[in-house]
Amino acid sequence: MTKPRQRAVVILAAGKSTRMKSKTSKVLHTVGGRSLLAWAAGLARSAGAARCIAVIGAKDAALKSAAESLGLETVVQGRQLGTGHAVLSARTALEGFGGDMVVLYADTPLIKPQTLEDIFDSLSGGVDVAVLGFEPKDAGAYGRLIEKDGKLDKIVEAKDAQADELAVTLCNSGVMAASAPDMFAALAAVKTENAGGEYYLTDIVEIINKKGGEARTVRASAEEVLGVNSRTDLALAEQAFQARMRTEMLENGVTLRDPASVYFSWDTQIMADVDVGANVVFGPGVRIEEGATIHPYCHIEGATIGTDSQIGPFARLRPGAQMGAGSRAGNFVEIKKSTIGANSKINHLSYIGDAEIAENVNIGAGTITCNYDGFRKHKTIIGAGAFIGTHSSLIAPLTIGAGAYLATGGVITDDVPKDALALGRAKQTNKQGWARRYRAAQKKRLQKRAGKET
Ligand code: UD1
Ligand code: MG
Repeated sequence: MTKPRQRAVVILAAGKSTRMKSKTSKVLHTVGGRSLLAWAAGLARSAGAARCIAVIGAKDAALKSAAESLGLETVVQGRQLGTGHAVLSARTALEGFGGDMVVLYADTPLIKPQTLEDIFDSLSGGVDVAVLGFEPKDAGAYGRLIEKDGKLDKIVEAKDAQADELAVTLCNSGVMAASAPDMFAALAAVKTENAGGEYYLTDIVEIINKKGGEARTVRASAEEVLGVNSRTDLALAEQAFQARMRTEMLENGVTLRDPASVYFSWDTQIMADVDVGANVVFGPGVRIEEGATIHPYCHIEGATIGTDSQIGPFARLRPGAQMGAGSRAGNFVEIKKSTIGANSKINHLSYIGDAEIAENVNIGAGTITCNYDGFRKHKTIIGAGAFIGTHSSLIAPLTIGAGAYLATGGVITDDVPKDALALGRAKQTNKQGWARRYRAAQKKRLQKRAGKET
């Protein structure tokens, strides 16, 4: 067997993104809770690319650091002289790299890993240059893929096209691939004699064909190659992503009571036989085990939810919430950075932050962990089987022993030993007859005032 060829991906991200009307580079805007650039990086990584290089504009420090934190190498394209020129900016970085290379746009988040695999496969199958084509509803300004006998003959930009070429419906998505040596050799021959006065990456098809190479089109759906140039495009991409996730979840055995009202993130993991109600939003970093029920109107982010748990309605799980098997978080309960043991219940109106709650604990309605002193966060630890009475204020740092019982309405400042009863409220006093005397005095006062006024 021949050794698989090494892979590189060059991600074009040097565009000015003026149509987004944003202070931030458009490729840092998000779809499914993940930046467009991170989508491209994730796609490159899914193909096992040994080298992932982002081409960025000069003076975009935020983009550079975002790219680096995604593990991408960066190269700068000082002036934007066209897509071909952009790819050439990566030539020095890829000096000596003899493998295959794919060019992606950083603003195209929905390309499937299988599609990229198909492109690399067509190169290893002997094709010299592969282009990802699609048929949009409106071919508009896209480059047209001119095919002959099943092979790709050339790409003509709309502004350079003849009428018969403009009538072609197969368009260039922008994704192009060749071996790195072929790509850079062809790019060196690209000129700027065209309507845009730019170095067109697309010219490499004709150049490689003239040398006796073979060019082919790999096809994708229009939705997959949707590029984000404006806020409208961003909204469309989000919609397409959500539709894809909903279908995937349903196919994987997740019940969605009202699919269109449930929103997922790129990495949401939900096991089979989880039941999700209407109007639920999953931020990044959520994993839900089998048999759990997420009732309507929950917002869940950075949380893990154990088997057969019950969440909501109206619960908010924030990053670091870890719900054990069979646990519950009911209406108007907020949980942050806390572990909740198996079968423990927080059923109503509570805030639990920076807490470790063991199994079989009952947290009464209105319980608050007072975790913040204005400067630092403190921990609350609650042992197995403890009973926390309603309306308890747990002033952290605090440890409640296993099996302890906290009476209702306590302001609990000191640790409670195992199996103890803690009473943290003022003792009640009853004053016999006080209410009757009070009412009589008030009545007298009102009569006196009425007398003066007449
Ligand atoms: C390009 C293709 C066209 C294709 C279309 C798909 C060429 C010549 N044309 O056209 O066939 O149908 O994309 O959307 O390639 N960029 C840089 N540096 C530059 C120029 C561009 O980084 O100097 C980046 C842009 O940020 C963008 C991408 O490359 O992400 C495409 O550039 P754009 O100017 O939008 O190309 P189109 O004219 O749309
Ligand atoms: Mg464009």
